[in-house]
Amino acid sequence: MHESIEPLRLRRAPVVRIYDVGETTVLVGPDGDAHELAGPSAQLTRAVLAFALAPRTRAEIIAHVEALSGAPLTDAAVVDELLGLLRRLEILIPATPPRRRATGKRPRLLLGITGAIASALTPGLVGLLQQRGFEVRIVATEAALRFVQAAALEALVHHPVRHDLWARDPALPVPHINLAAWADVVLIAPASATTIARLAAGECSTLVSAVALSTRAPVLVAPSMNLDMFAAPVLQRNLAQLTADGIHVIHPGTGRELAEAPDERVATLGPMPPHPAIVDLVEAALRIAVTRRRGAEGPPRDDAAWDAIYRTHADDELAWQRDALDDDMLAVLAREAPAGASVLDLGTGLGVGAIAAAARGCRVVATDVSEAALARAEARAGDAAIVWLRDDIAESRLRGRFEVILDRGCLHLLTAEQRPAYAAAVARLSAPGGVLVLKTHDPSEGASRSTTPHDAAAIERLLGDAFVLESDAPSTLPGPHEAPAARLFVLRRRPG
Ligand SMILES: Cc1cc2nc3c(=O)[nH]c(=O)nc-3n(C[C@H](O)[C@H](O)[C@H](O)COP(=O)(O)O)c2cc1C
Repeated sequence: MHESIEPLRLRRAPVVRIYDVGETTVLVGPDGDAHELAGPSAQLTRAVLAFALAPRTRAEIIAHVEALSGAPLTDAAVVDELLGLLRRLEILIPATPPRRRATGKRPRLLLGITGAIASALTPGLVGLLQQRGFEVRIVATEAALRFVQAAALEALVHHPVRHDLWARDPALPVPHINLAAWADVVLIAPASATTIARLAAGECSTLVSAVALSTRAPVLVAPSMNLDMFAAPVLQRNLAQLTADGIHVIHPGTGRELAEAPDERVATLGPMPPHPAIVDLVEAALRIAVTRRRGAEGPPRDDAAWDAIYRTHADDELAWQRDALDDDMLAVLAREAPAGASVLDLGTGLGVGAIAAAARGCRVVATDVSEAALARAEARAGDAAIVWLRDDIAESRLRGRFEVILDRGCLHLLTAEQRPAYAAAVARLSAPGGVLVLKTHDPSEGASRSTTPHDAAAIERLLGDAFVLESDAPSTLPGPHEAPAARLFVLRRRPG
């Protein structure tokens, strides 16, 4: 939806396969196909690639080419053809907004390495973790340091690589406790069969296993070994034990086990997955842990607390946030909200419902108790004609009548005292014959979400005087990491 509002921006991919020789530039695609460009085409390619180090729109690229040549382009097709080729070869890719971290603090990752041959590749993993925003410290088993030099890792992290439980270091008087407390997340990658056995048995004779067993942070373990070792029943038993104990066990990839003889390496299950996949999993586990912690704390109960959440949390840290309105709510909008219809989006948050309604040509008012949410929603909406208002539906000062009222997860956040005021407000604001499209958590979620899930009976008790409940369908309230069970209610305003 945003692509239709904002022009697509392209940027040079982080990894490209290109070489220049003389007047020629050779581009190689991910499938290995080579494209040779010579003379002016090569020059144009080099100029576009240099310019696209920052995200650029097509119009900006054309303007840049014109500025370089000192004359307007007679035929933009040449540039379009080149952009098409560069996109096909994945040399130019759509620019995604950089992931913002809500706080300035970088997550602290303690990396444990063990005597699996994939430890030889640790510098690459450390570099990638740092690139993705982690502050990294390293602990190693003695066997790990046969595969990789501590000095190389220390040059990357600017901290000693620790392997000794008994090291005398005033900065870390009891290393396993100090490091366990320091970490926001612990990753053991690669994890040898021996270290896995230690973790399963609660055996803390190495610094790696002692830290992993004493931390309160999430622990991820990436087994890495050859297929026979991985398939051994004892190893599988140990992994099942780790999973049961709450350790995150990363599935191995199918890769070439490096410890096999070079001529005998065939792809088998067992080695740990490539580094980017491991970092994706660490980020996901951290986000889920943070969301859970917040869920346990419960939703904020006042406007200032909501404002604080919207000021300090990135989009993907808001458990309910999605970039597009849920399909089932969109389907009701398509049916009930023709262009020109008046739509009220209650508790709009980052404005997803309001933006969807505006995209249909509706006249939209969007409200929230948080000014910070409204400011972010307005920025996301670009030119969409939406009226953004700070309003609390339980003490609403809104006027007017709306043909459609959208509520995605607002009612279920209200207290028992606030709900009658909500019912009176939506009845007053709904045009006769208009619909209230209402999504709440499903009762099967219990109180685990710190919301008040609703079923049809509860909805009818609350809203039945003013509305007819037309439909009650099972649904979900998808967020960035989870899609808890929900119910979608469609209620029609009784006349009068
Ligand atoms: C050349 C070589 C490669 C090895 N590769 C692996 C491996 O990939 N995975 C594994 O679990 N063990 C591997 N081992 C065996 C471990 O190094 C050995 O079990 C060691 O005791 C692990 O101890 P640690 O868990 O304390 O690091 C390898 C051993 C050698 C000699």
